[in-house]
Amino acid sequence: MNQKRENWDSRAIFVMAAVGSAVGLGNIWRFPYTCYSNGGGAFLIPYFVALLTAGIPLMLLEFGLGHKFLQSAPGAFKKAVRGWEWLGWLAILVGLGVMTYYGVIMAWAFNFLYYTVQPENLKVWADGGAPDFFYKNYLQLSDSIGELGGFVPYIVAGLILTWLSVYFSIIKGVKSVGKVVLITVPLPVLILFIFLVRGLTLEGCIQGLEHFLRPDFAKLADPKIWLAAYGQIFFSLSIGFGVMIAYASFLPKKSDIANNAFMTCFANCGISFLAGMAVFSTLGWLALQKGTEVADVAASGPGLAFVTYPTIISLMPIWVQFFGVLFFLLLLTFGIDSAFSLVEAGVAGVKDKWKMPRIQANTVVSVILAVIGLLYTTRAGLLWLDIIDYYLNSFALPVVGALQCIAVGWLYGAPKLREHINATSDFKIGLWWDFCIKFLTPALLIWMLVKSAMELFKEPYEGYPSWAQWTGGWGMLALLVIVAFILAAVKGRKSAEREVY
Ligand code: PHE
Repeated sequence: MNQKRENWDSRAIFVMAAVGSAVGLGNIWRFPYTCYSNGGGAFLIPYFVALLTAGIPLMLLEFGLGHKFLQSAPGAFKKAVRGWEWLGWLAILVGLGVMTYYGVIMAWAFNFLYYTVQPENLKVWADGGAPDFFYKNYLQLSDSIGELGGFVPYIVAGLILTWLSVYFSIIKGVKSVGKVVLITVPLPVLILFIFLVRGLTLEGCIQGLEHFLRPDFAKLADPKIWLAAYGQIFFSLSIGFGVMIAYASFLPKKSDIANNAFMTCFANCGISFLAGMAVFSTLGWLALQKGTEVADVAASGPGLAFVTYPTIISLMPIWVQFFGVLFFLLLLTFGIDSAFSLVEAGVAGVKDKWKMPRIQANTVVSVILAVIGLLYTTRAGLLWLDIIDYYLNSFALPVVGALQCIAVGWLYGAPKLREHINATSDFKIGLWWDFCIKFLTPALLIWMLVKSAMELFKEPYEGYPSWAQWTGGWGMLALLVIVAFILAAVKGRKSAEREVY
């Protein structure tokens, strides 16, 4: 039935695509800061534990599931456990939810790629005007989340550019993805190395690195650190979004699952670590220039990429524009393969179920998401981005992760999937995997969930008004669940007259 399913051209291309999905904005701005603010060098311990107990087991699960059932997430769960197709849709919808704002961050990077070649902007940044430039002039941020204040036209333009890039990257499925990743995976790694060398040759880099890595073991007792480590691993490895299931479903029969999964995980975490070194060595230099502490210049999220880095670049002694272009190119090329992997998971789901031509599925999914993304191009966009990002990552993701473990570990049977994985893999995974999938990983995820919920009970997230917590938070999550059940309940098309790609 599936003999015509699209296939990756080679194993290397599959691994590149999986690494491309994993390595994204999360590695560049999320990891360095998360590490630094959660015990520095000591954070690497919970991070490594999270990688071994949740990251790798779930990566194996997703690769194994996609490879076994030759279906994207909904079809794979449907075949594994009767009546569980909705879980696949839920994973995909959470991913698509992430993509609605991920695309807007890329839109900003497109805009900044243009700003960074203009000398007058560089002057403003060098004079300490980068925060105002970003929040006031560029985003035109409104005072409250309720004041949308209309669309910001150049961000809309950037968003259109982003969506066109994503649309065309996956236009021919794995065939076009395979070509795009040949550039968008090695290129940012090369750029990262340039930044690393640049950072390590700047004065003050040691102080920066010290901040990044100096271990604060006392912090290990704080559960928040562990929570942060698991959250980071999930987001960074792109697990729980249906992406890796879809990608693995395009693997040929004889594929080494275990090896591929380990490679993907270690490549991603290695790149995160290098990004941390590159970012913090440069921050050390910036602190020295400004005569302040590294702690005072370190920022996370949008602040790091769109305020701190522009400042750093504008103060570079030489080749200012070159480094500016390089930095935003780094963000764009790191981001693009994560972005299209999220969309591809959805497109593959729609295409598998309704057997529609790929181009049609791609158009429907892309247009809907781009339109939703317009919300973040308003003047309150950053605030909506913040709240939706928080609820998706703190609640939706651990729920999907835990349910995946329950579905496979308990209902389908962990040993069955392990045997399938081992049948085609060079090195065999042992009983430890069953233990992780059945007990350890779901228990940790549920604990994460309870912790996040307790935090929220104490105080509303970032003090946003309660109507916003209900619409952008709980309401949005409820909507995802309802849509997932509807999509699962709607009848698909049984067998296609022909498979069209
Ligand atoms: N892993 C990507 C990053 O680190 C983000 C992402 C999440 C991509 C989920 C795909 C799926 O930025």
